Amino acid sequence: MEALRACGVWHGYGRGSARAEVLRGFSLEMQRGEFVALMGPSGSGKSTFLHLTAGLILPEKGSIFVDGREVTAMDDSAAAKFRRRHLGIVFQSFNLVESLTAARNIVLGATLDRAAVSRERLHALASRLGIEKALEKMPSELSGGERQRVAIARALYRKPALILADEPTGNLDQKNARELCALLGELNKEEGAAILLVTHDPVVAASASRVCFLKDGAIASTMPTANDPSAIARICMQQEF
Ligand SMILES: Nc1ncnc2c1ncn2[C@@H]1O[C@H](COP(=O)(O)OP(=O)(O)OP(=O)(O)O)[C@@H](O)[C@H]1O
Ligand SMILES: [Mg+2]
Repeated sequence: MEALRACGVWHGYGRGSARAEVLRGFSLEMQRGEFVALMGPSGSGKSTFLHLTAGLILPEKGSIFVDGREVTAMDDSAAAKFRRRHLGIVFQSFNLVESLTAARNIVLGATLDRAAVSRERLHALASRLGIEKALEKMPSELSGGERQRVAIARALYRKPALILADEPTGNLDQKNARELCALLGELNKEEGAAILLVTHDPVVAASASRVCFLKDGAIASTMPTANDPSAIARICMQQEF
């Protein structure tokens, strides 16, 4: 069973002359534990696809399965529950709850589901991510790099099958961005969670094992990254993004 299977997904916004077709028969499969980078021009529908996969919006056509379960067949409350339990989501803007400590942010999904909170898991992740000292702090007291590591700990906490990361390095400086990518690569292996990482940066994409290029509503090409940012940059140039 795949970590992700999207088949023939169509989605657009607006009506009549304001209509924009974004995804047009988009399909993508990811094996369990696979680390895939998704690249494409601004406005090509990368975030739209992540939102569909997270069950935040429903596609007009097509189906998306995460870890064997059809997200596109769930109602809002089932999708919310599924998201908390089986998906890890990391955004560019960190999306931490400002009124909760870092530790409470990390275990929030479990708290909302009234599931048991494991202090052991919390501390193991915090130690792995180097954020032990941040645990009792509020998000406003943390640096961007620390906030993003808290967001990653939150995404990993319940051992999801799939992590969706939408330009997670977009608000970080180059040094923190590089460190975060290395860490994502290591965590992918250690934790076994598949990662779908959206980025515009060939160096960031090279931390994945495979890169897919989204153009005109579907995957135009896919290739192994071979840890080679320059080969990825060449394709981005050819595809004009
Ligand atoms: N809620 C919405 N309502 C109307 N149009 C939308 C909405 N969300 C996205 N769009 C449009 O759909 C297209 C795809 O947007 P999307 O955010 O998925 O692109 P993206 O590939 O993530 O771009 P970027 O690289 O800039 O983040 C864009 O033209 C955008 O303006
Ligand atoms: Mg986007």
